[in-house]
Amino acid sequence: MNEAKIKSTLFEMLEDAGQVIKTAILKPKSIRKKSELSLVTATDKKCEQIIVRAIRKNFPSHAILTEESPPMGNSTSRWIIDPLDGTTNFAHSLPIACVSIAYEEEGKVQMGGVLDPFRGELFFAGLGKGAFLNGKKIRVSSIHTLNNALVCTGFPYDRRDHLEDYVGVFKAFLMRVHDLRRTGSAALDLCYVAAGRFDGYWEFHLQPWDKAAAMLILSEAGGKLSNLSGDPLTLEDTQNLASNGKIHAEMLKLAKPFRHLTR
Ligand code: IPD
Ligand code: CA
Ligand code: CA
Repeated sequence: MNEAKIKSTLFEMLEDAGQVIKTAILKPKSIRKKSELSLVTATDKKCEQIIVRAIRKNFPSHAILTEESPPMGNSTSRWIIDPLDGTTNFAHSLPIACVSIAYEEEGKVQMGGVLDPFRGELFFAGLGKGAFLNGKKIRVSSIHTLNNALVCTGFPYDRRDHLEDYVGVFKAFLMRVHDLRRTGSAALDLCYVAAGRFDGYWEFHLQPWDKAAAMLILSEAGGKLSNLSGDPLTLEDTQNLASNGKIHAEMLKLAKPFRHLTR
């Protein structure tokens, strides 16, 4: 793999898409519903177009998996893209959102970058090379018990169909943690665990583009990622549990009664 070229293209794409999001947030928006609760804006599409064009230009043979379009190409070198993670926040002009891009080879993510254009925070990791925030190495927190933990979660888009179950998990955690947050961007949630800002995170129904880059960032920062059975997390898993490692067993135990929530 041409590491230097992949890295520089990845950074360039994050910057270009991030700039578009930052400029567009206070302007009138064109918003469409993909489903009852899931939105897409013209900015999601514009960012995706910028990123896909850059990949096509620099790596024409590579495959692309990106949220707003059908999968493109057929290659073991693949880019996994969320052009705007935090669309609901963005649609409401709430500046908590990011661009997430991962590069995968032979089914293994090699590099991942997540850019929050509002805070100017670039999270990046290379496989086996550590995780960084704006070039500075990051590590997960050292909190050892849920009682002292600040955790976060997300509310899946099918929440109206499984409300009791999702509220059940939420309640179980709320009773045990120091406090709990919901930011509205899964990629940032995972990066915040990597940077020690959150100690743990869970969410059902993440898609590969929500987590591909941030999973690598978190594991390179010393964190742990699994499904609710405790198996190492895959891009396809629907149940997602992430932590600083130290509170993982406690989180798993708490989430165990909800293992049946696989859809
Ligand atoms: C969503 C955000 C949100 C999470 C949802 C995701 P989008 O992505 O990451 O935090 O709760 O599960 O789908 O739609 O803003 O790209
Ligand atoms: Ca997303
Ligand atoms: Ca998105």
